[in-house]
Amino acid sequence: MEGISLQDYLGGFQIKILTIGGTGMLGASLMLVETSHKMNGTYFGEKPQSKNMVELNIVDEDWVNKIIRKFNPDAIIHTAAITNVDICEQKPDYARKVHVHGTKNLVQIAKEMDIYFLYISTDSVFDGSKGNYSENDKPNPLNIYAKTKYDGENVVLNYSNSSIIRTNIYGYNWLPKNSIAEWILDTLMKNKTINLFRDVFFSPILVNNLTEALIEIVERNLTGIYHIACPEGVSKLNFGRKLAKIYELNEELINPISISELNLKAPRPLNPTLNCSKIQRKIKTKLLNVREGLYSFKNIGISGYLEKLKAL
Ligand SMILES: NC(=O)c1ccc[n+]([C@@H]2O[C@H](COP(=O)([O-])OP(=O)(O)OC[C@H]3O[C@@H](n4cnc5c(N)ncnc54)[C@H](OP(=O)(O)O)[C@@H]3O)[C@@H](O)[C@H]2O)c1
Repeated sequence: MEGISLQDYLGGFQIKILTIGGTGMLGASLMLVETSHKMNGTYFGEKPQSKNMVELNIVDEDWVNKIIRKFNPDAIIHTAAITNVDICEQKPDYARKVHVHGTKNLVQIAKEMDIYFLYISTDSVFDGSKGNYSENDKPNPLNIYAKTKYDGENVVLNYSNSSIIRTNIYGYNWLPKNSIAEWILDTLMKNKTINLFRDVFFSPILVNNLTEALIEIVERNLTGIYHIACPEGVSKLNFGRKLAKIYELNEELINPISISELNLKAPRPLNPTLNCSKIQRKIKTKLLNVREGLYSFKNIGISGYLEKLKAL
């Protein structure tokens, strides 16, 4: 099937996509995206209302095989992860189980059933010493989260009908946690002060923008490693300032600090910004710059997405 698009292979019919981790920030955005494709998903902890989602622990091989056979999807988008970096540092075996063994369970059955497999990885596979990383740069993960996500990538590389997407995301959550944008917005709206790093850079993409790109990647059946992020890097401090400007909130509440002032459990890369030119040559979806992404975040927040998210 390699070399032709999944949609051509299916004669233009809708693609059956199964999102693993459908209640996560990215997973929920995939479950709610407006598309002609058939979207199903899995959850692990809290049960959503959607009839299109079933419970699954990816660490359990028999359970994985049963669910994948039941849905018989054309494509799997594997978003499930333990995204709390400090929890991964405290519980390395748990992180390894989910990121490596869980991924292995999914890849094995995908291979057996010839299902296109898309794995979501992270910008933190890089050590952040130089920034603007391309797909040809050598990863050097600094913490357990990143090391185990990178080991998950290496499991996926054993299967040719697959792609690995490295990214960094923000957006709205269904689970009781905040993305960086939600946290800054919530704090400034309460008129409280917030400390943001002036010396940590990233290239965060609005999760709904990433979702569009992922659907196009599945349709085009692209294989290999791709960086999909905001096409420009920004410090966490300036990300906060831009958000404050767009929402007309008080920028004075933002205190610039250095990451060296905090005693974080897991070491963080200082500049893992991604170069996205490879994917931009292959897909039509426009990757939004920081300002465009934040405007879109604001518009989505007032356009009914939050109500749909609540009812997931
Ligand atoms: N968030 C970021 O800033 C960021 C940055 C770079 C890369 N990424 C990558 O992007 C992807 C999506 O991130 P996200 O922020 O959307 O994640 P998230 O909101 O933390 O959601 C993760 C999902 O994985 C599920 N999950 C956890 N353990 C599982 C297990 N054993 N079996 C099945 N499902 C399990 C979670 O379910 P429960 O929570 O209900 O248990 C949840 O649905 C991840 O692969 C992450 O590594 C994220």
